[in-house]
Amino acid sequence: MRRPFVAGNWKMNMTRQSSVELAEAIAAGLSSDIDVAVCPPSVYLDAVSKSLAGSQVGIGAQNIYHEASGAFTGEISAEMILDLGCRYVILGHSERRNVLSESNADVNQKLKTALAAGLVPIVCLGELLEQREAGETLQVIQEQFDGSFEAITAEQMRSCVIAYEPVWAIGTGKVATPDQAEEVHADIRRIMTERFDSETADAVRIQYGGSVKPDNATELMSQPNIDGALVGGASLKADSFLAIISASQQTQTT
Ligand code: 13P
Repeated sequence: MRRPFVAGNWKMNMTRQSSVELAEAIAAGLSSDIDVAVCPPSVYLDAVSKSLAGSQVGIGAQNIYHEASGAFTGEISAEMILDLGCRYVILGHSERRNVLSESNADVNQKLKTALAAGLVPIVCLGELLEQREAGETLQVIQEQFDGSFEAITAEQMRSCVIAYEPVWAIGTGKVATPDQAEEVHADIRRIMTERFDSETADAVRIQYGGSVKPDNATELMSQPNIDGALVGGASLKADSFLAIISASQQTQTT
C-alpha cells in the first residue's frame, strides 16, 4: 500500500512573513497521518523550516543545481537545502522545462545529485496541450521518463516520487479528468515495470498536479494509481491545502 503524499509547490509567491504564517497554519490545522510537505521559495526555506520544527510537515526545495559547490552564480546545491532542513526537492517542473529550458539531461544530472545527497526527489513529467491534442501524450511521458531517469537503479527509483503534471492543466483551472490522469499514471507504472520490475513500479508514489482543488481532489485521489497531489495555487491558502490533504487521507481509508 502506497502512503499518500501531498506537497504544496509555492512557486515564486509569498513573502517571508506570509510564508511563516502559512506554514504555521498548515501545521496547526493538520489532522492526518499521510505525508505532507511544503516547497517554499528557496530564500524562505530557512524561516519556514524553523517555524515547522517538530511538526509533521516536511520541507522541499523547488530546484537544485547538480554541482556540489563552486563558481555557479545564483545556483543552490543539494547540501545547502539539506542544511536548511529539506527532505524533498522538486525536479523538472514544467515551468523549469518550458520557461527555463531545462532538458531531460539536466533533470537527470540533478536527480543523481539529489539521490546521492539523500534527498527525496519529486520528478515532474507532463505533456503540452498540443502534444495531447496530437495524441502524443504517452510517447512524451515515455521520453521524459527515459531521459530523466537514465542510468537510475531500481533501488534509487524506489527513493523517488513522480508527479504527473499535464502542462495544460497547470494554473489554468482546467483539471485533467480522473480518467485522463489515471490513464497516464497507469502508463507510468507500466513504464517502471518494463524498465525495472513490478515491485519497484508498485512502490513508487505518483502524484497528480494541475489545478487540484478541494472540490476535485477526492475524485482524483480515488483513482488506483494516483497517490497524492502536487498542488500549486490551492497550496497558498491553509484551508484549501488542508482540505486537499483530508481528501487524500479519506480516499486511503475508504
Ligand atoms: P496549480 O495547482 O496552480 O495548477 O499548479 C500545479 C503545479 O504546477 C504544482 O507543481
